[in-house]
Amino acid sequence: MDKRVLLEKLVGDRIYIKKHDIQLAKMMFDYVQEDRDRLDRFFPWVEFIKTLEDEEGYIHSTHEKWDNYTGFDYGIFKKDDDVYIGNIGVHSIRWSHNCAELGYWILGKFERQGFMSEAVQLLEKHLFEMGFHRVQIRCSDINVRSAGVPERCGYVYEGTAREDAIEKGKYRNTRTYSKLAHEANF
Ligand SMILES: CC(C)(COP(=O)(O)OP(=O)(O)OC[C@H]1O[C@@H](n2cnc3c(N)ncnc32)[C@H](O)[C@@H]1OP(=O)(O)O)[C@@H](O)C(=O)NCCC(=O)NCCS
Repeated sequence: MDKRVLLEKLVGDRIYIKKHDIQLAKMMFDYVQEDRDRLDRFFPWVEFIKTLEDEEGYIHSTHEKWDNYTGFDYGIFKKDDDVYIGNIGVHSIRWSHNCAELGYWILGKFERQGFMSEAVQLLEKHLFEMGFHRVQIRCSDINVRSAGVPERCGYVYEGTAREDAIEKGKYRNTRTYSKLAHEANF
């Protein structure tokens, strides 16, 4: 498919997702500070976000990716009070194969309310409507909560790649889930 930018805002039932605004940097940085130990267990980038300037740099880098069609990062907000609760993004896009991957995190205090599953379904719907054929989600095999998201959203578990990444100095296994356009029901 031809390269195109995604919509900057998508609205669901309880949440909406919106392209990062540089104004969000302070709040995003405060969230990372608040949840640093928890997020650091799952993401290599956490140790590189030490100051507000680092967070601003991150947001600028997401805008560059947006402009060159290599990634689309969104903040997730609750619809009832506009509170920012986490991030979701499209990355590892292979335009010539109509494939893309989703990544996400939510602040601990907003976990277990189904917000991420709703964000995944909202974004995947947009991707399939654009013409993507396959959306995948990958996670460490010890990240049970992350695996729960694609499982809840009807993704097919394809298998586990053995020791294909290094996390905190140790090899880790990676689970892959996917959904194809004709498997989406909306
Ligand atoms: C991975 C992560 C985003 C999952 O968040 P989550 O809140 O568990 O995900 P969901 O939105 O799917 O919520 C599901 C939970 O909400 C509950 N829930 C409540 N209301 C719900 C609703 N209306 N719809 C769906 N689920 C609902 C479900 O029962 C489930 O709870 P359970 O796990 O106790 O059974 C979160 O744990 C996280 O940010 N972790 C750290 C970062 C990370 O690991 N990112 C992924 C790296 S690959």
